[in-house]
Amino acid sequence: MPRVLITSALPYINGIKHLGNLVGSMLPADVHARYLRQRGHDVLFICATDEHGTPAELAAAEAGLPVAEYCAQQHEVQAQLAQQFGLSFDHFGRSSSPQNAEFTRHMAERLRDNGLIEERVSDQVYSLDDERFLPDRYIIGTCPVCGYERARGDQCENCTSLLEPTRLINPRSAISGSTRLEVRPTRHLYIRQSVMADRIREFIDSHGDWPVLVTSIARNWLNVGLEDRSITRDLSWGVPVGWPGLENKVFYVWFDAPIEYIGATKEWADLDPEHRDWRSWWYETKDVRYVQFMGKDNVPFHAINFPATIIGTGEPWKLVDYIKAFNWLTYYGGKYSTSEHRGVFMNDAVDVLPADYWRYALLAAAPESDDADFTWESFALTVNKDLAGILGNFVTRTLKLTQSRFGAVVPEGGEPGDEERALYLGVDEALQSFVSEMEALRFRPAAFALRTLWTQGNMYLDRTAPWSETDVARVACILRTAINLARLHAVVSHSFIPFAAERLAADLGLRDDERAWPGSAADELQRLEPGREFRVGEPLFPRIGDRSSLGVWIGQMEERFGGPASKARAG
Ligand code: MF3
Ligand code: ZN
Repeated sequence: MPRVLITSALPYINGIKHLGNLVGSMLPADVHARYLRQRGHDVLFICATDEHGTPAELAAAEAGLPVAEYCAQQHEVQAQLAQQFGLSFDHFGRSSSPQNAEFTRHMAERLRDNGLIEERVSDQVYSLDDERFLPDRYIIGTCPVCGYERARGDQCENCTSLLEPTRLINPRSAISGSTRLEVRPTRHLYIRQSVMADRIREFIDSHGDWPVLVTSIARNWLNVGLEDRSITRDLSWGVPVGWPGLENKVFYVWFDAPIEYIGATKEWADLDPEHRDWRSWWYETKDVRYVQFMGKDNVPFHAINFPATIIGTGEPWKLVDYIKAFNWLTYYGGKYSTSEHRGVFMNDAVDVLPADYWRYALLAAAPESDDADFTWESFALTVNKDLAGILGNFVTRTLKLTQSRFGAVVPEGGEPGDEERALYLGVDEALQSFVSEMEALRFRPAAFALRTLWTQGNMYLDRTAPWSETDVARVACILRTAINLARLHAVVSHSFIPFAAERLAADLGLRDDERAWPGSAADELQRLEPGREFRVGEPLFPRIGDRSSLGVWIGQMEERFGGPASKARAG
């Protein structure tokens, strides 16, 4: 059984992440990690905040804080939210760590030793008042094509023309607004990807099992032709290059960020002597399968650039074995936007409802094979139908009915018959389909299979109608079987809804061995011995509103977070 290394794309430090970020990387990565741990794999699940680059500097300036302090604060905020969502990282690191700086410099030095780094001089805009070079997108001015007055130096948002800062009319600094700009030569390091194209193509081709979304993006880049890529910037916040003549440069954020997957693993190791074999996860590995999760915009960096860094070092660092990428989650048909604060953000979400509601509903409608749209109405329907109506309702009905007929104990009597055998078949089939979807990292179909599994309980109760059954032994058998099915639900649903699953497992008083991954339904559904006590807890998933108040609730949410009307505004 291979050990499995799992990384989620590192969330940028500049602000709380929205649900599109969550469902596109951290959440499915967590579900995968939890599932594999349950199946007995040794899992290392790593994430971190991505803290360098101009966006961090600008966000800090806006918050009126030194950038290091801003990052420390925001890291805590994101770590806290990750915990509230049940994201079970083994370590949630920081790309600004000394460990990452060390690996970043190490990789760059190996690339240099292997002749894969080139120095080039280029012209860049320098702002006299900001006393710094400005990245293209931080120069704004009038678009030479359409006349839009807030075009960025890299692109005009209005007419989408690709621009150069020098083409802007009346250029000014986006940071200070200053117009005292001049063009100055500056030296930068480039990684010579152009000479590595064949090796990268071989690498991609050797992974015929990757999702088409991933390979098509990667092949597109290769087909256009791999260009050398600059890996340094004129900033003060970042990993200092430190080479002679490059004293004021730092590495480009997209160079050091993926290296933080390794850096964070070392941070994890440095916290605990028990983790001293951390290298066995990354270096000369023999038994590690490495899976990465990300939104589709991240694919080029993970399928091409980061492998180019790794391969270019000539050292046996672990390369990714499987890339799982997601499309976009939209909000009422428009883009989720951090800068415009459009959509639902992680802090808002847990303020509205517990994390499990989000975990399940987001994955059940994940933008997996295509973009997917979030609306409060579809969210509420999923919650009320699947979580409250199917799972929650089955558990409550079963436990309450048992309690009223037999007291809060697993009832004794009766023998399983045809109805039970029919149930076993349905459960085995749903469970098997859940397993095969999970193994294939297909989360939306996995959520569907999970729901199908839950449904078996409701169908069973409806068929056997224990509430109108007069044979007491028969009622005992039905309810005992149903309680065992609730146990199986608690075990199998753990990766999707860990909090509710834990609550149910605790209410049923499950021991560790009773939480193990289930075998055949025939064994599993007669497992809890009669006489065992349980507790009838609060409903697992209270529904959102009732027939009359649901519409009101949806209206309130649309009012608070923006609804159909906001589409026109932010399109
Ligand atoms: N911060 C980037 C984003 O949100 C992701 C960085 S992933 C890493 O798009 F690999 F670079 F770490
Ligand atoms: Zn324009």
